[in-house]
Amino acid sequence: MARAEVGDDVYGEDPTVTRLEERVAALFGKEAAVFMPTGSLANVLAVRALVAPGEEVLCESAAHIARAELGAHGAYSGITMRTWHHPAGQIDLDLIRTLFAPDLGPYFVRTKAIAVENTHNFAGGAVLPIDDLKALRGFADRIGVGIHLDGARIWNAHVATGVPLEEYGQVADVLSVCLSKGLGAPVGSLTLGTAEAMGQTRVRRKRMGGGMRQVGVLAAAGLYALDHHLERLAEDHAHARLLAEACGVDPDGVDTNIVVVPRDDAPAFVARAREEGVLVSAVGPSTVRLVTHLDVDRAQVEKAASVLAAL
Ligand SMILES: Cc1ncc(COP(=O)(O)O)c(C=O)c1O
Repeated sequence: MARAEVGDDVYGEDPTVTRLEERVAALFGKEAAVFMPTGSLANVLAVRALVAPGEEVLCESAAHIARAELGAHGAYSGITMRTWHHPAGQIDLDLIRTLFAPDLGPYFVRTKAIAVENTHNFAGGAVLPIDDLKALRGFADRIGVGIHLDGARIWNAHVATGVPLEEYGQVADVLSVCLSKGLGAPVGSLTLGTAEAMGQTRVRRKRMGGGMRQVGVLAAAGLYALDHHLERLAEDHAHARLLAEACGVDPDGVDTNIVVVPRDDAPAFVARAREEGVLVSAVGPSTVRLVTHLDVDRAQVEKAASVLAAL
């Protein structure tokens, strides 16, 4: 990061950012990518690339865009949202079919896009099978709507399944990907899509105050993460299974690096784990979430497993 060659990225003159954007776009077979400060902004501007104010996006009810972006898609983009529910965050084509609203004239909100999340955060890092994504792509093409893929953790899905990143790119019109989660960069996400859509996205990013100047210092961390931290995600997945076992959760149900533990006393459990030096979080009154990542090595995971098992 300290050695990164930088320039003013608002003028497209930061060579390190440009290198990162071109590299990530190529990985997913997309024409262009735009560097973003957060996954949330990457999502907001990705969805906005497909859906105009007054139109709607469909997504799963526990999707990050619906639950954890503080209404940004409505507040800033004027977009409405309807959701289908799946206990494991999966695509349910039958439900999506019933939700889809075609253009019926100036009376009803029209569906313009379907958003999916892979892996699905609140469903415990669940992978969406590529065949389901392809079936959704076929459906979306038939009805003429776009697909947004929230790929904050698409890297985990790729490593867990072996599905090439480009194949994930093919099923989506726009994607967001994060460098700051399992890959371990301190900051940074990207929105990907066609050159035309990403040109407009660059304008919208600047409008929202997200034009960053000599930000190659952060892009350099992303490039480093892609070189060094992608394949090792498999270790995080193995660690998550170990933690699952310690907590009485079926490890076969853990696809990647997140374990969801049902506990009636979630906040108290989190507090007691903290006293023992293990940091986990409550994502609901009766749900504890464990996440493994780059900064937690095998010995620390084993220690955490013994503390959590005792609790
Ligand atoms: C699936 C998913 N998408 C997007 C985000 C947003 O990322 P950020 O925290 O960088 O805004 C998150 C954050 O946890 C996430 O889990």
